[in-house]
Amino acid sequence: MPHAALQVGALTAGYGPVRALREVTLTVGDGAVVAVLGGNGAGKTTLLRAISRTLGFHGGAVAGGEISFGETRLDRLAAPEVVAAGVVQVPEGRRVFARMTVADNLRAGALGAPRGSRSVSLERVHDLFPVLLERAAQPAGLLSGGEQQMLALARGLMAQPKLLLLDEPTLGLAPLAAERIAERIREINRQGTSVLLVEQNAAIALRVASEAYVLETGRVALSGPAAELAASDEVRRRYLGVVDEDAAADAERIADAAPVLRRWQP
Ligand SMILES: Nc1ncnc2c1ncn2[C@@H]1O[C@H](COP(=O)(O)OP(=O)(O)OP(=O)(O)O)[C@@H](O)[C@H]1O
Ligand SMILES: [Mg+2]
Repeated sequence: MPHAALQVGALTAGYGPVRALREVTLTVGDGAVVAVLGGNGAGKTTLLRAISRTLGFHGGAVAGGEISFGETRLDRLAAPEVVAAGVVQVPEGRRVFARMTVADNLRAGALGAPRGSRSVSLERVHDLFPVLLERAAQPAGLLSGGEQQMLALARGLMAQPKLLLLDEPTLGLAPLAAERIAERIREINRQGTSVLLVEQNAAIALRVASEAYVLETGRVALSGPAAELAASDEVRRRYLGVVDEDAAADAERIADAAPVLRRWQP
């Protein structure tokens, strides 16, 4: 069977009168990591909800376009059928079941997956995230932010996805924790899972992805190889926080003249 690629064509979607996506066209090749960048309200989450068919749960609807995964038209399916087709969304905000144990959170992720596959999946996520085995019996709410994000990712993997839809997996994490998550996403991809990665952290996303799209008010404003986007002035200025060279040089001179970082001394 040919492997599946995700194809989104001229997707238009919104919430009542609010148009959140306009004619968005995007492809995730088999085995690829593709990033979607964009500021607050650009439509990133809406895109993932449209693909996972969960938009209706949030009062939204698709108004036009097509979404397919391999031969399967996802836009004709219900949310559980999308999961069964191998496309799994990990929602933003590390939504774990705080009062349930880590083990039960993972079990919940395997609902709908073939029964016999559960122990294999569990072994895989414990290899990826050993801390989840150490904390298996603890309530998920006691995990750190980074660990909760690992659990959210692991729970998504329990359904054995072919394509993972990740919504800002590094949001709110300290740089080191964000870097760890990024490294795990790479490993998950190396193991054969394609990834559509929504991020505001463009620096991380462009390092993990091979291709990237920039969404602005619901439209694709830019797209191309991640390395090329990372090098473009517009992306550097708007999404990588790189100020123009003169201002940067000025800032450096000022910093050299008067060091602002001091250690606290008793
Ligand atoms: N449930 C909803 N009901 C009504 N409007 C919504 C809903 N969810 C999102 N919107 C609107 O749709 C647009 C796109 O929102 P979306 O959540 O997709 O953006 P985003 O790129 O994910 O932003 P963020 O980076 O803040 O998560 C925004 O104008 C937002 O206000
Ligand atoms: Mg969002």
